[in-house]
Amino acid sequence: MVRYFAADTLRCSGMDPVRNPYAPGAGQRPPELAGRDKQLDAFDIVLERVARGRPERSVMLTGLRGVGKTVLLNQLRSAARQRGWGTGKLEARPDQELRRPLASALHMAVRAIAVAHRHPEMVDDFLGILKAFALRSTADKGMRERWQPGIDVPAVTGRADSGDIEIDLVELLLEAAEVARAVGVGIAIFIDEMQDLGPADISAICAACHELSQEAAPLIVVGAGLPHLPAVLSASKSYSERLFGYHRIDRLDRSAADHALIAPAGREEVKFTDAALDTLYQKADGYPYFVQAYGKATWDAATDSPITAEDVEVGAPAAEEELAVGFFGSRYERATPAEREYMRAMADLAGDDGPVATSAVANELGRKPASVSPARDGLIKKGLIYSAERGTIGFTVPHFGRYLRGVQ
Ligand SMILES: Nc1ncnc2c1ncn2[C@@H]1O[C@H](COP(=O)(O)OP(=O)(O)OP(=O)(O)O)[C@@H](O)[C@H]1O
Ligand SMILES: [Mg+2]
Repeated sequence: MVRYFAADTLRCSGMDPVRNPYAPGAGQRPPELAGRDKQLDAFDIVLERVARGRPERSVMLTGLRGVGKTVLLNQLRSAARQRGWGTGKLEARPDQELRRPLASALHMAVRAIAVAHRHPEMVDDFLGILKAFALRSTADKGMRERWQPGIDVPAVTGRADSGDIEIDLVELLLEAAEVARAVGVGIAIFIDEMQDLGPADISAICAACHELSQEAAPLIVVGAGLPHLPAVLSASKSYSERLFGYHRIDRLDRSAADHALIAPAGREEVKFTDAALDTLYQKADGYPYFVQAYGKATWDAATDSPITAEDVEVGAPAAEEELAVGFFGSRYERATPAEREYMRAMADLAGDDGPVATSAVANELGRKPASVSPARDGLIKKGLIYSAERGTIGFTVPHFGRYLRGVQ
């Protein structure tokens, strides 16, 4: 009887979990995109300049896991769309060729602006080139049925279909830019997880962006990736440092993190005490994924507005559990036993998650550097660690060292 009353009281006076506004999850649109005005404003200038035929650099967003790269990429995409641009997006995967997903993204972008083109036959001509480009994919080798790009015009041979991705991509993107120019808009292609592209594809993108900016062509590539993406690009082409506008996406500062929590709650007429915000910042450390996770758990733990520091403490274990499973654990499980051992050694060395020397990791494991490099390379390929500077290695996942020290 008593238990029945307790549960019932909780249900009546507690905060409504259905109205919980927070959104932890990969690529989940946050209820409030906090602290990214600088990047959004800079991108508006890029769009405006390209629209006016001014030369512009393509844009690269880099940062650790969970800082909000995908969410920002999507936001930039809708900014481009709002200006009438044609847009397309792809997510790079290790061991997957760029050719097909890029063809699909470009197809979508061109279709969006084709209706405004005064000469439909020119659009069809471009689509024919695009089809020929897509059909040069080598991914079908050995398969009985050929994949079809879903473009319903005949392939036009002779352009962008040499089979050399660098030559073909340069030709294809210049042709696409001409379609956009004729409509008086631009095209933006968004590439998430860009560090996962293979060397030939990376080098093709650099060459194409180089050519596009020299021609002041209205087509830009907007990439997002881990902190070593600039190193991947410059290993491919030395001029890449000048080719792209890099934006480091970092954790939110105190006022942005507060805003990410306060604004959505405000719309539900719920407030936080100052002490609650202090505690939340201390726990989430400004990392957007953590802000959402602790925000969500705190809301569910709170009984009334204003939300207090005690509510944060009551909710915290639920947030930590969700992070352990959804953010840390899912990644840890991808590692082999040797890779886990490597990461544990890193965690023991990295006091505050900062990068450590690879030689120190080998030393900690009591092994020769060469014998541990397969584990290190495997982890880089899986996106769990990165090397932004030669000879050092860091976790791509914030607080991962702390998490590993807690797992036995
Ligand atoms: N500016 C922001 N303000 C508030 N919350 C944000 C912000 N950016 C992202 N988030 C939240 O953070 C979480 C992670 O975002 P997102 O998936 O975009 O990160 P990411 O950098 O792409 O991570 P990964 O490297 O794992 O792909 C999501 O729950 C999202 O709602
Ligand atoms: Mg992402």
